[in-house]
Amino acid sequence: MKFSGIAAAAILGAAAANALETISAVGNKFFLESGKQFFVKGIAYQLVEEDPLVDGEQCSRDAALMKTLGTNTIRVYHVDATKDHTKCMNAFADAGIYTLIDLDTFDTYILPTAPSWNQTQVDAYAAVMDAFIKYDNVLGFFVGNEIIAIANQSLAAPYIKASVRDMKKHRESKGYRKVPIGYSAADIAELRPMLQDYLTCGGDDSQNVDFFALNSYEWCDVTTYDVSGYANLQKQAVNFPVPIFFSETGCNVPGPRLFDDQQAIFGKEMSSDWSGAIIYEWIEEANHYGLISYGPPVAPTATGSNIRGGFSRAGTPTPVSPDFNNLKSQWAKITPSGVAQSDYSPSLVSTRACPTSTQDGWLVNGNVALPSIGQVFTGALSTVPIATPTTTTTSALGSAATTSTTKNPAPANKEIAGMSAGLAGVMLFFTFWL
Ligand SMILES: *[C@@H]1O[C@H](CO)[C@@H](O)[C@H](O)[C@H]1NC(C)=O
Ligand SMILES: *[C@@H]1O[C@H](CO)[C@@H](O)[C@H](O)[C@H]1NC(C)=O
Repeated sequence: MKFSGIAAAAILGAAAANALETISAVGNKFFLESGKQFFVKGIAYQLVEEDPLVDGEQCSRDAALMKTLGTNTIRVYHVDATKDHTKCMNAFADAGIYTLIDLDTFDTYILPTAPSWNQTQVDAYAAVMDAFIKYDNVLGFFVGNEIIAIANQSLAAPYIKASVRDMKKHRESKGYRKVPIGYSAADIAELRPMLQDYLTCGGDDSQNVDFFALNSYEWCDVTTYDVSGYANLQKQAVNFPVPIFFSETGCNVPGPRLFDDQQAIFGKEMSSDWSGAIIYEWIEEANHYGLISYGPPVAPTATGSNIRGGFSRAGTPTPVSPDFNNLKSQWAKITPSGVAQSDYSPSLVSTRACPTSTQDGWLVNGNVALPSIGQVFTGALSTVPIATPTTTTTSALGSAATTSTTKNPAPANKEIAGMSAGLAGVMLFFTFWL
């Protein structure tokens, strides 16, 4: 009866996770089942590169401390669909915390310069969805993270949209709840706002994202809403057709971080168009963005059961001072009420036209046909006529608004730590902009 025992435990586990209401995207907002608007107060969580959601005791310790911070969401970049995530998902659900899960795995990325969307990728993405859909505290899935980092990589955008198309098809064919499916973009001035518009344009919702998220490090304390560039981000997000939020934020230059941007995001300037922010990141490591640590740094070459890349990756989380408390007090001041779903009319939001291509910028001209599964990339899209160069709105508000922002300093990324040297070399390019 061993197997039925396990099955019973799994069912009980799933029942515990059901304590949280599911979340859906309506117009440009997230709503709980009760009709209350949901704003993301999130933390990027990837203690180890393979999958941080398999150690239930570790998840419980972290979830308990995150709860004191005011966190209601974590973002996880990589998971292993073959593992059991029940204990971790329940630990976070018990703390009132939702999850945003990236569907891509290390060898199924849509590559920026030689994009593909093939059956291997479809199956791998679908396996992650199948593994997580049973947990009510899944807020959404990302089909990709910062795939496009420079202008000529915009040709990969139709492949991103193809992945959305097929993951929605999978969701529908399995009869799953409509878990929002979206994309997490790098903050690249020449591509903003074309990418966010492209992923929501054309009028066919079956291939458009359910939400768009931006990794932005524009706001470095001490600054202001106008000087930081956030005013420009806001301008481009007004009445966006789907929820938009920060999937990473938390500039650490010069530090310590004050997280003053949270008052703009959740306040009167932005909260009617934005759905919150995810702070990068939970664990302190070489790139120095951590909110907690599991002990002092050790030698980069040190080995141990939970030590990799010079940092302990399990244990009792200890707040990094003063960043942890700074964030805690910012979030404690924020209680956006938003709107009730019953008072909200999604028709207020507007679909934008598919962007036309621009010289040295966005290269996808209009609503191009999406690649079919397995269709080989030839770069042919770049031969479409390039429209007369247009000045994008990114320059409208001065130099801050035109700056591309990524993590600074260039991170010794968490996902490289502990990886074999060969894989790390390959990964370096893709995680550099994470
Ligand atoms: C599918 O795409 C992945 C990721 O780019 C690649 O590694 C793999 O070789 C491709 N598989 C096939 C059969 O083309
Ligand atoms: C894309 O742009 C980068 C940076 O400007 C450049 O180094 C690279 O050669 C370009 N690639 C192609 C295929 O044009």
